[in-house]
Amino acid sequence: MESKIEKIVSLTKRRGFIFPGSEIYGGLANSWDYGPLGVELKNNIKKLWWDRFVKSRSDVFGIDSALLMNAKVWEASGHLKEFSDPLSECKKCHNRFRADDEDFKNGKCPNCGSKEVTSEKQFNMMFKTTLGPVESDENIVYFRPETAQGMFVNFKNVMDTTRAKLPFGIAQIGKAFRNEITPGNFIFRTREFEQMEMEYFVRPEEAEEKFEMWRDEMKSWMEDVGINLKHIHELELPDGERAHYSARTIDFEYDFPFGKKELYGLANRTDFDLKNHSKASGVDLKYKNEDSEAFYPFVIEPTWGVDRSVLAVLCDAYDDSDPKHIVLRLKPKLAPYTAAVFPLLANKPELVEKAREIYDDLRGEFSVALDDRGNIGKRYFSQDEIGTPYCITVDFDTLNDDTVTVRDRDTGEQERRKIDELADFLRKGIS
Ligand code: GAP
Repeated sequence: MESKIEKIVSLTKRRGFIFPGSEIYGGLANSWDYGPLGVELKNNIKKLWWDRFVKSRSDVFGIDSALLMNAKVWEASGHLKEFSDPLSECKKCHNRFRADDEDFKNGKCPNCGSKEVTSEKQFNMMFKTTLGPVESDENIVYFRPETAQGMFVNFKNVMDTTRAKLPFGIAQIGKAFRNEITPGNFIFRTREFEQMEMEYFVRPEEAEEKFEMWRDEMKSWMEDVGINLKHIHELELPDGERAHYSARTIDFEYDFPFGKKELYGLANRTDFDLKNHSKASGVDLKYKNEDSEAFYPFVIEPTWGVDRSVLAVLCDAYDDSDPKHIVLRLKPKLAPYTAAVFPLLANKPELVEKAREIYDDLRGEFSVALDDRGNIGKRYFSQDEIGTPYCITVDFDTLNDDTVTVRDRDTGEQERRKIDELADFLRKGIS
């Protein structure tokens, strides 16, 4: 029997959400491409995040920083020295594993079970490349392993151009790269992924209060995207298990089908980054308050993985309680299509024409599908499987009274609605 994650991988491939990367060449291990529906879902998540945490807040400023940064950034941030995982190798099958893997901790190779394993060494996870045509040590740059450093190196630029006063945040959404030793579990752990990150600068004495504020904000976000808080477990990381920059970290773990694993994180990075960048760059990154007193603000960092958001949202939305009728119960505002428009009969040109007219009217503002394949029942099932919250059917009455049937994905209820009220109805549905 297929496991839940296998079912989700299969549905997302079959319906155009997520494809294996470089598939026609036999793939590239653990790389994934978002298809037409997946990119809509992912973009809806990113847009919701941006609208909620950047656009609608007067204390947060968005940026979009370069992915390749001066190598000195990673020296100052501590990533060159500290951003590594423990690596061991099996002497028998020569597979390499994270030495903190459960099997490995028991002294066994997770692949072949051999007890002959090398002692662990630290493996730095940053991808290295060279800038320009000459391959030399001076030209080495790294693909960023976190978007956060873009916010720290632009702290002064943002402060100078916005006159921001504490507390304020700088946020961005973008790709990050990590040469993970053991990627896997579909889009859960990949070597190329996206983050939505916020560096929230505060007075040191208010760090704890703002930490709690972001803890609440993160939970409220999860509810908003349809992640059931019953599936979330907060893990306060003890000393020795936190990243090198963090004085306090909470991992929000989610009950993925393959186990309880980190979904998001919340850290108190103190003044670690600003202080180190000031020292290394020679540029003063202190904040001056109204009395011209200068100090390094502390940083509260809530961080969200985009791909893990997509996966958690899919896991909670996936409903196969009737295996013949799979429904993706996505929040309407996240669904790839807000509505699908059908002519009742595909062989009646007047119905097809009217359906197309409604489709054309709506798709300027909404993401809408037009479907005339098979019978109505099949079309409903097909839209349910990709999470479309509303199906609009044009029938013979439509031609006389300008009304259509609107069917709700979750209740199955059908209501008659006026065509000129549809846009308003959909607007409310996704608000
Ligand atoms: N700036 C802090 C930071 O990067 P992190 O816990 O290492 O913290 C933040 O990463 C988030 O990025 C994680 O909570 C997770 O959602 C996502 N993430 C991290 N590594 C990932 C990977 N290899 N594949 C997919 N998502 C990943």
